[in-house]
Amino acid sequence: MSLHQTPAAGQPGPALFEPMLGAADPRLVCEQLARLRRDAPVHRDPRTGLWLITRHADVKRISREPAVFSSEPHGPWHEFESHFSMQAEDGPPHHRTRNVVSRGFTPRRVAHLEASVRRYADEAIDAVAASGACDLVQDVAVPVPARIIADMLGIGERFELFQDWVEVVTAATTTGGRSLRGPADEEVCRAFEDYVGSVVAERAARPGDDLISAMLGGRDAGVLDSFARDPFPGVPAGDGVLGFISFLVLAGSETTRHAISGGMLALLEHPGQREQLQRRPALLPVAVEEVLRFVSPVRAMRRTVLRDGVELHGQQLARGDSVMLIYSSANRDERVFDSPDAFRVDRRPNDHVSFGFGTHFCLGANLARMEIRVTLERLLTRLPDLQLAPGARLERHPSSIVNGLVHMPVVFTPVARGPDAKEPAR
Ligand code: HEM
Repeated sequence: MSLHQTPAAGQPGPALFEPMLGAADPRLVCEQLARLRRDAPVHRDPRTGLWLITRHADVKRISREPAVFSSEPHGPWHEFESHFSMQAEDGPPHHRTRNVVSRGFTPRRVAHLEASVRRYADEAIDAVAASGACDLVQDVAVPVPARIIADMLGIGERFELFQDWVEVVTAATTTGGRSLRGPADEEVCRAFEDYVGSVVAERAARPGDDLISAMLGGRDAGVLDSFARDPFPGVPAGDGVLGFISFLVLAGSETTRHAISGGMLALLEHPGQREQLQRRPALLPVAVEEVLRFVSPVRAMRRTVLRDGVELHGQQLARGDSVMLIYSSANRDERVFDSPDAFRVDRRPNDHVSFGFGTHFCLGANLARMEIRVTLERLLTRLPDLQLAPGARLERHPSSIVNGLVHMPVVFTPVARGPDAKEPAR
């Protein structure tokens, strides 16, 4: 599963929107968005027909009005988004699902997970510490949030199988292929589905303190229905449990990894800010907000206009029109942020919209903040001279939805593994 919801050529969807936000030179995109904010804050992209919403106040206003600007998939432009399940719901069905899912994200639960995040970050660092080099994305930023999601679901005991399944299903989605690659993939899917089947049977009989149990508890009220509808390639619809697992990976892992790696990159590119943070680690929670604003791991989300005659900045929006809420632009809005293109670890206030706004505000926001804070703290403390590897090529995901690196080769002075280091899970 993937947030790189880039439809294959010829398919409907914002593929043409790509050059605007995805694969293009980030500096150029920043300049184009600044021009739109100034001259045409509600701009109809002639190639795609999408309305691009670039100012902070407008992104918030639209997010606050779900009765006018719907999250549900409507029309051919949104076919590719139906996999977004609860994110693509409005009204009572959405409230019902959100009420149950939110049980996994109470402040108490998030606080409980902090020790695990620290351990997983340390284990990831231990695995590469002696070599003096690693891929910060794949070796650190990927496993930490993925292991936490497995724990929240109560399937951490089979983390390796879970990871193999995530890889198989991700490949099936991102290659644009609608099928698995071969017998080995089919075997992984079968093994994971069997395992989840046994977990479901066990938790239905003896509910635990995990998200699968919570979702099963709401099954009769229909909370799994949205996840059973049109799941990702390689994910059988079934009762929706597998769809829910894949949604959580999509929402929570593919986003947080980009904040961790993008945040580290921002610190490497702004050595003065990094020194300030290393001198004053108490600033970390403030710096995390700046990382979220500066990186904008989710670039944009879509809404559909539900009625005619909606006017915004003199533009007439019609029923059925699509609007893109461009968070990465709202987060650089000079009406809200001083020197918006500067990365400042002590920026306060910082009213970014990286987690969205309104009824769909990210349920994992506090968890993500904690994961980013703890992982960056471990990296800055344990690998204090970490740098980009000489000649490193930074490949970005060619996506209009997420902003992140595929790989980030880094080097550092080799260090000993921590005193409690165990063999890492992978
Ligand atoms: C830096 C990391 C993250 C970013 C930038 C992010 C961003 C977002 C955004 C922008 C939305 C709103 C989508 C919309 O309005 O249509 C959202 C929703 C959501 N996020 Fe996150 N997210 C992150 C981490 C997480 C994590 C760690 C989890 C869980 C493990 C999570 C779970 C969710 C869920 C369940 C929703 C759907 C809420 C709803 O539809 O009511 N997110 N996220």
